[in-house]
Amino acid sequence: MAKINCIGILTSGGDAPGMNAAIRAVTRMAIYNNLRVIGIKRGYYGLVYNEMEEFTTKSVSNIIQQGGTILKTARCKEFTTAEGRAKAYENMTSAGIDALVVIGGDGSLSGARIFAEEYDVPIVGLPGTIDNDLGGTDRTIGYDTALNTIVDAVDKIRDTATSHERLFLVEVMGHMAGYLALNGAIASGAEAAIIPEMETEIDQLGDLINRGFRKSKNSAIVLVAENPTTGGAMGLAQRIKEEFPEYDARVTILGHLQRGGSPTAADRILSSKMGAQAITALMEGQRNVMIGIKNGDLVYVPFSKATQHNSSIDRGDIDLVKILSI
Ligand code: F6P
Repeated sequence: MAKINCIGILTSGGDAPGMNAAIRAVTRMAIYNNLRVIGIKRGYYGLVYNEMEEFTTKSVSNIIQQGGTILKTARCKEFTTAEGRAKAYENMTSAGIDALVVIGGDGSLSGARIFAEEYDVPIVGLPGTIDNDLGGTDRTIGYDTALNTIVDAVDKIRDTATSHERLFLVEVMGHMAGYLALNGAIASGAEAAIIPEMETEIDQLGDLINRGFRKSKNSAIVLVAENPTTGGAMGLAQRIKEEFPEYDARVTILGHLQRGGSPTAADRILSSKMGAQAITALMEGQRNVMIGIKNGDLVYVPFSKATQHNSSIDRGDIDLVKILSI
């Protein structure tokens, strides 16, 4: 196996709080081990169009607390073509990069998998997405911060919902995974969570709403996971308007504010440990794996498993939301 001297690092897909902490950890762990680091801009776009810069320990100073990604990010169409990946490989080798660390979600890691197979490039991935939907890991970088942002927002919505005795549908992100909606509901004491993993019939919905309104507060908050098939919270509001016109439902779509903000301590720690482990993994000869965390231990997850949509929602948690909101 050829010795690795220079690591390229990129962030790709939707940004997630903690990506900067991961960039910092990868860079500093690499330099500590006498490896060069090259920062690649705008995800795979920077590989295809040669936008890269040499990183020093100073390049990653004062970023651990920042949301977003100093490397910028993108969803790069060119990299999905064989020509794009050929250009990427040429630029990468010309820059002297002999291994990559890719921080991103399922699309980004799928891209890494194809590139690694085609060009025999050692790549280690880090799970960077607020959705928590990657296989083989209990947590993804950014999930905890996004969850806290949701809880903070729902606490505020609760004030106005209570005052006006209204039903609120709060739509959260998740990319067809219900973790943010379900755990957001548990943490904010919401009356229900509507998640893509479970079909919600209109009569069930009526039951949920009625239960919510039986509470002394006379208001209800339902967390709804985004869902292009059903129209998410807007689609649900329309159904409620048709079936239960007595409820004057309001919709709040939290949107991209869930991706911003300073990462929580939990995300900073996860990013730092995973980032450092990515370098250890490459030096150990690991390739085409994502760093995951299982029961508190860092693990290597093959890309083929990491990119399998993870929707192992605990049914007991769905019941818990109901039981605790009686
Ligand atoms: O994957 C992260 C995510 O924030 C999803 O929750 C959401 O569906 C998607 O990205 C939004 O992507 P964009 O920023 O391209 O609109």
